[in-house]
Amino acid sequence: MYSVSALLVLLGAVGSSCIRILSDHALKCSLQGLNCTSSYSNCMDPGWLISHKYTPSGPENLLVSVDTRPDDTGQLQPVLQANWTLKDDGGIHFLTATELHVVVMSTNEQLCIRYSFKDNLSMRSPSGEKWMFSSNVLVLDPGQQYSVSVYNIPKPEQGHSSFDISREVQVLGGLNQDIVVFGTGV
Ligand SMILES: *[C@@H]1O[C@H](CO)[C@@H](O)[C@H](O)[C@H]1NC(C)=O
Ligand SMILES: *[C@@H]1O[C@H](CO)[C@@H](O)[C@H](O)[C@H]1NC(C)=O
Ligand SMILES: *[C@@H]1O[C@H](CO)[C@@H](O)[C@H](O)[C@H]1NC(C)=O
Repeated sequence: MYSVSALLVLLGAVGSSCIRILSDHALKCSLQGLNCTSSYSNCMDPGWLISHKYTPSGPENLLVSVDTRPDDTGQLQPVLQANWTLKDDGGIHFLTATELHVVVMSTNEQLCIRYSFKDNLSMRSPSGEKWMFSSNVLVLDPGQQYSVSVYNIPKPEQGHSSFDISREVQVLGGLNQDIVVFGTGV
């Protein structure tokens, strides 16, 4: 009995979720010629306990908006469009991943998408631009407000200079993309 009710509670929580992945196959990482994999989590990262001699600098130029995309059944869904770039400095040598972190402000529910690299990145992409990431796989709920941030992995050591690049985005009404974007951070 215990496990059945636990399962129902879990299903209930999933059903009422204010943020989810559009579809597993939409979750991909394609960067110019780069071996990159993407995965999502509830943002609980055991890796933060590991100490690093060097850490990369923070990402920059985070732009967020609400877009619409069809899901697997062809129904249009409001999705978060988030774009950001990597600084073209030496810190990129120590970058193993970059992560998008979204929090539902009314419930504190969180979802992270991590883009991980097998190889060391060059300072800029083969086309000579800064490396740019773009995500549009998170489905948002009308009426909800979200806090969106990005950070590079490994994160800065405890007590060292840290960075905070975050924005807020609100989905108003129905699918009519009425959005308000508040900016904080760099
Ligand atoms: C990506 O990985 C595959 C298999 O591991 C390898 O053959 C290919 O050369 C890699 N591509 C780059 C750009 O490193
Ligand atoms: C974000 O990136 C996508 C894909 O590269 C692009 O189509 C879109 O115009 C970009 N949005 C902004 C606001 O830069
Ligand atoms: C890049 O190189 C550094 C030092 O050579 C290494 O510590 C780091 O793990 C490498 N990063 C990746 C993503 O392979």
